[in-house]
This record gives sequence, C-alpha cells and structure tokens, in this order.
Amino acid sequence: MKKILITGGAGFIGSHVVRRFVNKYPEYQIFNLDALTYAGNLENIKDIENQPNYNFLKGDIVDANFIDELFSQHKFDGVLHLAAESHVDRSIEDPLAFVKTNVIGTMNLLNAAKNQWKGNFEGKRFYHISTDEVYGSLGAEGLFTETTPYDPNSPYSASKASSDHFVRAYGETYGLPYVLTNCSNNYGSYHFPEKLIPLFINNIINNKSLPVYGDGNYTRDWLFVEDHAIAIDLVFHEGKNHETYNIGGFNEWKNIDLVKLLCQIMDGKLEREKGTSEKLITYVKDRPGHDLRYAIDASKINKELGWKPSVTFEEGLEKTINWYLNNEEWLKNVTSGSYKDYYKKQYS
Ligand code: NAD
Ligand code: DAU
Repeated sequence: MKKILITGGAGFIGSHVVRRFVNKYPEYQIFNLDALTYAGNLENIKDIENQPNYNFLKGDIVDANFIDELFSQHKFDGVLHLAAESHVDRSIEDPLAFVKTNVIGTMNLLNAAKNQWKGNFEGKRFYHISTDEVYGSLGAEGLFTETTPYDPNSPYSASKASSDHFVRAYGETYGLPYVLTNCSNNYGSYHFPEKLIPLFINNIINNKSLPVYGDGNYTRDWLFVEDHAIAIDLVFHEGKNHETYNIGGFNEWKNIDLVKLLCQIMDGKLEREKGTSEKLITYVKDRPGHDLRYAIDASKINKELGWKPSVTFEEGLEKTINWYLNNEEWLKNVTSGSYKDYYKKQYS
C-alpha cells in the first residue's frame, strides 16, 4: 500500500487531483492536507469524503513542527504539493502571505521528506506543482519551454519561482527524487470566483459588472482543469526524476475576446437578449506589473509521456458553464461564506 500526501486538496486544482487519485487508486491511502484558507472548500470534494482510502488532515504547511510530526506519523511514500496562495491580485496586496505559504511551506515539506526518506529514495517521489508565471511575460511571439529562463514579475510568481528553485536545489544537493510541472491558466468546476472565468460567470448570473483590467488585450493559455489532473497523474507515475514538464492548453485567448465569448454563451443559456451580458463589461484600472502574454510549448510532455488535452476549449467551456449553472448552491455558499461551516459540520 502506498501512502500519498496531497497538499491543497480542498482548493480548485487539488480537489480534482484528490478525486482522481481516490477513485482511480483504491490501493493508495490518500491524505489531503489543507489549512482551509479562504480558498479551501471541503464542499469541493464531498463526493469522495467517505471513501475508505481518503483521509482529511487540517493543518498549515507553514508550521514546521506540525509537518515533521505528520511525516514521522504517516511515513508518506509520495507527495503531490499543490497548497499555495494562488491569486496574483492578493499577492500585490499581501506579498508576505505568499512567501510564508509558497516558499517556507514548500521548504517545510522538502525538509520533512528529506529527513523521513534519509537517502533511501526507492519508491519515493516529491512532486511540486507550479505555474508558467515563473517565466514572466511573452511578447507577441514565442512560447515558454522548459529551458526558458525564470523572470517572475508578481509577488505570486516570485514566490512560486523561489519554491521551484528550492525543489531543484534539494534534488541536486540531497538527491531528493522530485518532478516539477509548470502549467498555464486552468478553468473548470470548483474554481473560486475571484479568478477571471468563475468571477465573470457569477457576475453575469447576478447582472453585476465585468471588470476587465486595462484594455483587455492580455493573453492567457487556458487548460481544462480535468486535463491538468490527468497530466499530474501521468507525471507523478511516469515522469522522470529531476525533470520539469510544461503543461498547457495550446489555447491562447485575449481576455477581451474570451469575455465576449463567455457573454454570448451565457446570454444563450440564460435566455437573455443577445448583447445583454456584454453591456456589463467595464474597463477598470490595470493590474500593476500585468504580464502581457503566457503561452506554453507542451511538446515535451506530449512526446515523452503522450499527454495532450482531451477536450477542446469549446467543449471545456460548455461543461464549465453548465456546471456553474447547475451548481448555483455551491456558488451561493462560496459567495455568502457559508462554505466555511462545512468543516465544523463534518469533522468536529
Ligand atoms: P487554490 O487557491 O484554489 O487552492 C489552494 C489550496 O491550498 C486551498 O485549498 C488552500 O486552503 C490551501 N492552502 C493555502 N495555504 C495553505 C497552507 N499554508 N497550508 C495548507 N494548505 C494551504 O489554488 P489552485 O488554483 O488550485 O492552485 C493549486 C496549485 O497549482 C498552486 O500551487 C498553484 O500555484 C498551481 N497552479 C495553478 C494554476 C491555476 O490556473 N489555478 C495554474 C498553474 C499552477
Ligand atoms: O498562468 C497560471 C496562473 O493562472 C496560475 O499560476 C494562477 O494561480 C492563476 O490565478 C492564474 O493567474 P492569472 O493572473 O492569469 O489569472 P486571473 O484569473 O486572475 O486573471 C486572468 C486574466 O484576466 C489576467 O490577464 C487578469 C485578467 N483579469 C482578471 C480578473 C480577476 C481581469 O481582467 N479582470 C478580473 O477581474
């Protein structure tokens, strides 16, 4: 039996990864460690919480003693590390929170794994999940590859870049068997409505304005979250130690074009007159240090591990919009804050 620690499993991407691992690998014991910050929502994984191979642990990765004790108690074979402060706008308001969780928290996990595995790395693996934002901003041309130099611009991306460097350093210095992935923008179900797509879906439903930063001519490469979870499963099981893989959607959209597409689809779904939602678009002050364009060259993971996105953007967006429309209660619980009560109801 393998004991696998997944951090941040009550968040957006983590919940999809936990669900996949719990359902697909009954032979593993999955431990979901999450501090339940504002971004952690146990309603995201309530469908698997009673599975015999699922265990929830509430705790903070910044607390080194707690993490050390957890590793000595459970003797994990593998770690998939997703816990992070993940929102760029919040990192501009409170950079230190990002250093604590993303840098110190990652260090605590690396130290605990190194100390528990003590150079006996057979069957062990530390998987660090990271972002394409560490590469900085592209101009109109080109793609990020695994050898693009790091050039982070926001406190969020600087903290993720720092954690990536520490993971590599532990691989080089102590031989820690790690794999690392840098992925582009995800979208899909259970996405906290502070990020562009879920925020705008929620605002359209509620007839609220759609705040487009600057002129809206910023480009992101969008990937369906379930395809990211598939890639993470593949890299965890088949990726080569000490390797980085870029993961992306081959799917670049200027923000303003994506927002207009979303408006059109939502008008149809909500049976509103054509053009109704577009009227909600409001151009607002730009994000400071706003990266112009992200786009991933995902050919390495495609050639070496055979991964490519399984859905088109049209299919993924359709599934996503339908999910939010069919799960308005999830959205209401998040926006009212009542999702915070779920832990108390279930676990205390
Ligand atoms: P999220 O904000 O939705 O979830 C983060 C989770 O981590 C939450 O459940 C939160 O409670 C938990 N957490 C935060 N601080 C913690 C701490 N100190 N101790 C324990 N748990 C803590 O994030 P996400 O969008 O799901 O991103 C997950 C990971 O993937 C992050 O590392 C992020 O950098 C990376 N990533 C995200 C995207 C994206 O588009 N969302 C793309 C590429 C990479
Ligand atoms: O590229 C991967 C990254 O994608 C992840 O590492 C981050 O965790 C994730 O949050 C995401 O970062 P972005 O900053 O690209 O995502 P966000 O949804 O915040 O913004 C997407 C684009 O939309 C960006 O150009 C800013 C713009 N935007 C965003 C919001 C929230 C707006 O114009 N208005 C908004 O209200």
